[in-house]
Amino acid sequence: AFMKEMMGLTVLEEQLKDTLHVGKAIVVPGNSDNENWVKLEMGKACVSFLKSTIMKNQTVAVTGGTTMAAVAHAMVPFTASNQCLFVPARGGIGEKVENQANTIAAEMARKANGDYRLLYVPDPLSETSYQTMLNEPAINEILQLIRGSDVVLHGIGDALTMAKRRKTANEIIRQLVAKDAVSEAFGYYFNKAGDVVHKVRTIGIQLEDLHEAKSVIAVAGGRSKALAITSYFQQGKSDLFITDEAAAEQILRGR
Ligand code: F6P
Repeated sequence: AFMKEMMGLTVLEEQLKDTLHVGKAIVVPGNSDNENWVKLEMGKACVSFLKSTIMKNQTVAVTGGTTMAAVAHAMVPFTASNQCLFVPARGGIGEKVENQANTIAAEMARKANGDYRLLYVPDPLSETSYQTMLNEPAINEILQLIRGSDVVLHGIGDALTMAKRRKTANEIIRQLVAKDAVSEAFGYYFNKAGDVVHKVRTIGIQLEDLHEAKSVIAVAGGRSKALAITSYFQQGKSDLFITDEAAAEQILRGR
C-alpha cells in the first residue's frame, strides 16, 4: 500500500472509480502492452481480491483471453476455493485453445482445488443449431449454472483487434467498422457510447445477467485498450476493475 501511495497509483484508482463508475479500481504499475509481467500482476491482484471475497459454494464464471489466462496462472488455493465451481462465461468465441474460457476455467479450478464444468459448443453457431443446443438438457443444465454465477470475471478488448483475432468474416468486420465498434467483452461489441452494435451468437452469460451477479470483476490493461475500456464502461457494470498504470493514465487523459 505504501509503495502504491508513493507511485501515485492510489490517486489513479480513485479517479478511475469516479470516471468509469465502478465500485472499486485497482491499478498495477507498468504497461501490459509491452511487458507480460504486468498482466501477471493484474492476475495476482485479481486472485487476492477473490481470496478475500469468495465464499464457499459460489460459482465463478470466466471469459477467455490472455488477461484471464494470466489470472488463471496466478490462481492459488484459498479458504473456500475447494468448494467453488468454475465455469466458462460463454461458449467458444474464436480464441486459441490456451486462451479459451473452458481452458481457463479448468486451470483455475485445478489451481484452486475447486470444481469445474465445461461448455462445448461449436463456434460460430448458426441460428438453428443455437436453438437446438438450448434445448439439449446437458447444455441447458450448465447454462443455468453459468447464468446464475455469483462471481463473473472477464476481460475487455479493442473491437477490431478482437474481431481479427477471432478470424471474423470480412463482411462482419466491415459492419463493425461501419457501426464504429470500439470495444468487446463477452462476445458483445460496443460503440463509443457503449451501445451494443454486434453480438457473437453463442450460449452463455448475457449482458443482463451481470446485474444479477453478486460480484463482477473486469480485468484489462495496456495503453492500447484505453478507448475500449472507456467505451465498455459507458454501460458495463463492474464491482471491481483491475488495470495497469498505462491504461489508467490514458483513460483519464481522455476524460
Ligand atoms: O475472447 C474472450 C475475451 O475475454 C474478450 O471478450 C476480450 O475482448 C478479450 O478476450 C480480451 O483478451 P486479452 O486479455 O488477450 O486482451
